[in-house]
Amino acid sequence: MSLFWRIFSLNAVGLFVAAALLLGPVTVSTPVLPGEALAVVGGLVGLLAANALVLRVGLAPLKRLGGAMSTADLLRPGARAPVAGPAETAELITTYNTMLDRLEAERATGAARALSAQERERHRVAQELHDEVGQTLTAVLLQLKRVADRAPRELREEVGQAQEATRAGLDEIRRIARRLRPGVLDELGLSSALRSLAAEFTTHGLTVRHQIAGDLPHLTEESELVLYRVAQEGLTNTARHAAADRAEIRLRPVADGVELLVRDNGRGVGGAPEGSGISGMRERALLIGAVLSVGSAPDGGTDVRLSVPFTAVGGP
Ligand SMILES: Nc1ncnc2c1ncn2[C@@H]1O[C@H](COP(=O)(O)OP(=O)(O)O)[C@@H](O)[C@H]1O
Ligand SMILES: [Mg+2]
Repeated sequence: MSLFWRIFSLNAVGLFVAAALLLGPVTVSTPVLPGEALAVVGGLVGLLAANALVLRVGLAPLKRLGGAMSTADLLRPGARAPVAGPAETAELITTYNTMLDRLEAERATGAARALSAQERERHRVAQELHDEVGQTLTAVLLQLKRVADRAPRELREEVGQAQEATRAGLDEIRRIARRLRPGVLDELGLSSALRSLAAEFTTHGLTVRHQIAGDLPHLTEESELVLYRVAQEGLTNTARHAAADRAEIRLRPVADGVELLVRDNGRGVGGAPEGSGISGMRERALLIGAVLSVGSAPDGGTDVRLSVPFTAVGGP
């Protein structure tokens, strides 16, 4: 029954009963006698209680819908409000669920577009850094070497320092370019790229181990990129926030796909709100239908787990 008819019929029943009683045997005298007052107050209380009950039951689905709306998160898709209640409410909930379907689909295509634009742009910047700035610095380095060969003794040290600085700049640019565009991914594939990532993040205070299965199923280019970027962001977070001394990248085949685990033994995420890094990982995961979870590791650090289903990697 619709909410309108529920409320209307309840009110109608109350008014009918009141009218029938007035027309019938009941009289209310002035001034009111105690017995009559008691009957009127009792009737009123009964009517109000019935009214409250019907409204509460009728409006409960709306309240649940409100709750579902306030916790909806497009980065964790799939949650829907249960369709229940009077006709209008049920229709409203259905409409809301359909709207979520649409928003999630739009979000996924929008994110795909934005991320591929971002990858293209990174590629371009990396290429330019490598080709333009890198070549120029290489030329400067050669020139400095020629100058050093012919420079008088008192200038040699300074020229040597300039060479050192240029070489450091060149290394830095190569490093930035590599980070922007995981060239190793194209050249050597995911396993090597992850190994070099582990090496890159290994510093004085942090040892990153890797455990990459040899019998991985074939992965699409897109899912390799997502796996790589998630590992990269996971390790960046470890280096930046965890204060860990050990971390690990693990990639292995599982029953229904492959699973990437980035684990550290640091202080753990705790209640820290998710920033652009973690939501970026979620967005990338959505692109290939993978599921990302960020939780605490068995020994108190952080676990970032990405489960990529076969549907994304193109079968076993
Ligand atoms: N491995 C980690 N160890 C400890 N804290 C973490 C780790 N990863 C993430 N965090 C916490 O979660 C927050 C959100 O991370 P993220 O979304 O990547 O944003 P950002 O790195 O830009 O701060 C971080 O600010 C940090 O407090
Ligand atoms: Mg981060």
